Amino acid sequence: MTILGIETSCDETSAAVLADGVVKSNIISSQLVHAKYGGVVPELASRAHLRLIIQIVDEALTKAEVKKENLDGIAATQGPGLVGALLVGLSFGKAMSFALQIPFVGVNHMEGHLYSNFLENDPSYPFLSLIVSGGHTMIVHVEEPLKHRLLGQTRDDAAGEAFDKVAKMLGLGYPGGAIIDELAAEGNSRAISFPRSFLEGGTYDFSFSGIKTSVLYYLRNNGMLDAEMKNPSIEKDHLKDICASFQAAVVDVLVSKTMAAAVEYKVKNISLAGGVSANSLLRTRMKEEAEKRHLKLLYPRIEYCMDNGAMIAYAGWMRLQHGLTSTLEIPAVANLELV
Ligand code: KG4
Ligand code: ZN
Repeated sequence: MTILGIETSCDETSAAVLADGVVKSNIISSQLVHAKYGGVVPELASRAHLRLIIQIVDEALTKAEVKKENLDGIAATQGPGLVGALLVGLSFGKAMSFALQIPFVGVNHMEGHLYSNFLENDPSYPFLSLIVSGGHTMIVHVEEPLKHRLLGQTRDDAAGEAFDKVAKMLGLGYPGGAIIDELAAEGNSRAISFPRSFLEGGTYDFSFSGIKTSVLYYLRNNGMLDAEMKNPSIEKDHLKDICASFQAAVVDVLVSKTMAAAVEYKVKNISLAGGVSANSLLRTRMKEEAEKRHLKLLYPRIEYCMDNGAMIAYAGWMRLQHGLTSTLEIPAVANLELV
């Protein structure tokens, strides 16, 4: 079965071709237009998707050496995401499937991240996944294909959002996760003790707004910001220590909650997914803790951590194999829930 996957939920325009679960092409265009605004501007994202979508889909088909007449189905992200951005890929996918008279399936973006590890590894069920991206932080238990149970999620900022906001405070640019990761590698993670928010009652929910605020107060109290709490002036080595200490606090919480859930739900397989799963400390710490408990750990290669069409094609392929298709009437849903 040859599937075209389309992803336009945020600021990556991506299309991929998947043949019987094997990636034949995965073209990703990251929109650079947002960097100067320090975050994604929805209207600019939609317009950029519109400009890029035909070219990206064409490139994906050409690279895969697949003619559109030979596609067996089309999958596109239905949500969650920016509604105007989602609409571009979703409408494009629907129109193409209508023209070609082949099945169409709308895919939950989080479901795409959830199964992204299986693009290169054999699936093992049940498994537990920590999905950490710019918009979401969740722990999901997957009993069998497409049977998901949300164990916990963030109550405020997503992990990636916290990285991006702290990077902005530190004057590091957007998106800031990878920049913090790189600076942290040369810093001392014990230099500053930022709070770890575990929340009460052993919940698997997360909260990252507290740590973000404590970084802000730390900068203010140490005279590193101007009167408007902006324009940071931080000595380079100290900047590295702040990055390392902040990153360690976030990773501590992510790792300990995932491990606690793995023990409670008695799973042997865990996976990481989403943009923040590219984080080097998160990967190292997870690997160490998984080994201690004899758990098998998967994480995607960087290309599949970020938003990409291949993961959407994969989740769509799974749905089509289960006989699940969507009508052409399905709407784009900004806060689509994982079911
Ligand atoms: O999954 P993704 O590409 O898009 C969403 O669905 O949100 O995730 C993007 C997020 C951004 O917040 C970015 O700062 C973060 O992933 N990120 C990282 C790293 N690389 C990307 N965060 C921490 N460490 C990294 N190495
Ligand atoms: Zn994502």
